[in-house]
Amino acid sequence: MNQKLIFTNLVGKAIDDLVDELGNPATYVIVDVNTAQYVLPTLTEQTHAVQNAHVITIKAGDVNKNLDSVQTVWKALHDAGATRNSVIINVGGGVVTDLGGFAAATFKRGIQVINVPTTLLGAVDASVGGKTGINFNGYKNEIGSFTEPLASIISTAFFVTLSQQELLSGYAEMLKHGLLENREELDTLLAYSVVYPIFDPERLLELLRRSVAVKQRIVEQDFTETGLRKALNLGHTIGHAFESLALRRQSPIPHGYAVAWGCVVSLVLSHLKLGFPSDVLHKFAQYVRTNYNAFDFSCDDYPALIEFMRHDKKNMTQDEIAFTLLADVGDPRVNTVVEPDDIRSALDIYRDLMGI
Ligand code: GLY
Repeated sequence: MNQKLIFTNLVGKAIDDLVDELGNPATYVIVDVNTAQYVLPTLTEQTHAVQNAHVITIKAGDVNKNLDSVQTVWKALHDAGATRNSVIINVGGGVVTDLGGFAAATFKRGIQVINVPTTLLGAVDASVGGKTGINFNGYKNEIGSFTEPLASIISTAFFVTLSQQELLSGYAEMLKHGLLENREELDTLLAYSVVYPIFDPERLLELLRRSVAVKQRIVEQDFTETGLRKALNLGHTIGHAFESLALRRQSPIPHGYAVAWGCVVSLVLSHLKLGFPSDVLHKFAQYVRTNYNAFDFSCDDYPALIEFMRHDKKNMTQDEIAFTLLADVGDPRVNTVVEPDDIRSALDIYRDLMGI
């Protein structure tokens, strides 16, 4: 991985240092309507590169992570005379860094990007590892590329304005990294609360540094996701099925919550199929139940959930449903094919564990 990861709460200085190193090229800042209002004014005060930048604003939310928004960015870059030497600074959550990254990867066959994630979810996941993309034809991240940014500047300074729900949503990806790392890291995360008693930016920055290192180590070994990187999908096959069911019910759920609940089902499956230790499963499920409540469904929803899992783009064939499971904490097994009967059993056990 060539991407520089800079952990600091002095974001303005970090941006200026990077742009200086590049010889002060023209800068283009991509924001959405929220970060334009809440983050851009502070960055503009702190940062020459942002003061001098051409600002491109897109609509907020995953529904706008689409070709229309990419065209808005391409057109603005073109009209303002951006060149291959220009630099894009993405300031926002996963929608901005995914979409801005994709627009930059394709404009004039690729221009440099600096990511400044403003959400915990963006900082721990989307802004690191080089996946860029947009939703297309009703499918998430259907069009995209593996293109690393020059750097991500990871800070907790912007998180003070995040809701508890947004913090917990990002923390779920950190829990996932803990499961992929080792028991000590997992126990540290399970002993911490991202929302209670008070949000502590310096402590969270330290946890974030260790969590991003887990992802970085995996991405370095398998950048284009031919094998090991699929470990990062832990909890996601089931989590995406929960998100799809929630969307069908017209009651969307935050991505990170779906991942937290999906990890519980994955650990149940891991226990059933690979002997994952039940004490860790119970401890993890208890933490998730306390902090995230539970995604509520009945056995009548099983056929729909299994159908959604069948359509997960990470399956190798149309007939088989493959998961990333764990033989133990830190011991992922990618492409583990699971039969629908085992999925139904795991969903039963999830409902027991979560009290629904
Ligand atoms: N979000 C998982 C990955 O970057 O591979």
